[in-house]
Amino acid sequence: MVHPRRLSRMSVVSLCLLGGSAVAVGAAATTGCVARTPGVRRSAPRPRGRPPASAPAHAPDVAADGATLRETAEKAGLLVGTAVNDWQLPVNPAYREVLAREFNYVTPENCMKWGEIEKRRGEPDYERGDELVTFAEAHGMKVKGHALLWHQMLPGWVNRLPPDELRTAIDKHIREVVGHWKGRIIAWDVVNEAFEDNGEFRAQPFFSKLGEDYIAHAFQVAHEADPAALLFYNDYNAEGVGPKADAVAALAKRLRERGVPISGIGLQMHLDGAQPATRTDLPREIAGNMARLAALGLLVNVSEMDVRIRGTPGSDADRFALQSDIYRAVAAACRAQPRCHGLTLWGFTDAHSWVDGFFGPDDPLPFDEQYRRKPAFYGLREAIARTPR
Ligand code: XIL
Repeated sequence: MVHPRRLSRMSVVSLCLLGGSAVAVGAAATTGCVARTPGVRRSAPRPRGRPPASAPAHAPDVAADGATLRETAEKAGLLVGTAVNDWQLPVNPAYREVLAREFNYVTPENCMKWGEIEKRRGEPDYERGDELVTFAEAHGMKVKGHALLWHQMLPGWVNRLPPDELRTAIDKHIREVVGHWKGRIIAWDVVNEAFEDNGEFRAQPFFSKLGEDYIAHAFQVAHEADPAALLFYNDYNAEGVGPKADAVAALAKRLRERGVPISGIGLQMHLDGAQPATRTDLPREIAGNMARLAALGLLVNVSEMDVRIRGTPGSDADRFALQSDIYRAVAAACRAQPRCHGLTLWGFTDAHSWVDGFFGPDDPLPFDEQYRRKPAFYGLREAIARTPR
């Protein structure tokens, strides 16, 4: 059906997908590019103050097409969110219009990461984050901050610190950033992607220099900086069944038992429709994992959902239908779990997704490049509206 243009670019096959499964749910997806996390920026930022050439001047009129995601979620008492592209927000009216119309929760895609905020040591720059928070407040949306400690997109100077200085720098960073938006940001991803897919701690500067305890410490400092904020551990490939999901649950249990102020777990949900497990075992596995985390007294949230369809069989209509089913299944699992706090997508329009740069051209989101609703939109909306809690 709609916008076959990008799906037809199938000849551009990334090494990542050739190498094995991409990020997906379950134990089946533990090879190839799964172990990689994004280390590169997807593209150079667009110059500010100029709309992208492909952007429509206005979002399509949806008056005759029923409720927005936002209206549906608000009726259901759910936060429905999206990552916000720092470079589109200031310059793209259609982007802003759909964002405010369809979502009640936003997360900065990049601008609150350490490497974006404090490129030069001691000179934090909050401008783009402030812009986003101000936009959210003007439109009655909540904000989740992302991500205080991540081994990617760190300033170079942080990587070079010896252990004692690193610990002091972490304290200062978390205290200042959380403190800056205290009372305006309801939740933070405090620690992001600490595990490898085999469930081992990733060998990155925080763990290598400070050991596992850097995690508890980060939560403690964040809590002191804003006691009202919800604090999440966030990871990918830990949604369903497998060693990484087990490691995340075990970490959460240890933290809870020590009284560390962790509120919940973010399940990123960067899914690949071409993985059979995504289609078959996904709903049951996610529901089971969410229940296990909820039983620890934790909240869960779907934190970065997108669904790749480039490698799925059939016509474009088949691909979009499959994608819609996956969005529907995940939204239903979240709705059915009373401790599922929100569902956040990693972007909303196929015109601006990190997937294109990281995995190769695709159409992973519920709105097409012209901001029109795709089958995935309807799958999401239906699950949010209809799944009993
Ligand atoms: C990605 C952004 O979307 C890209 O623009 C950036 O180049 C790299 O980071 N997991 C995360 C997110 O927790 O922060 C990542 O975001 C995607 C994977």
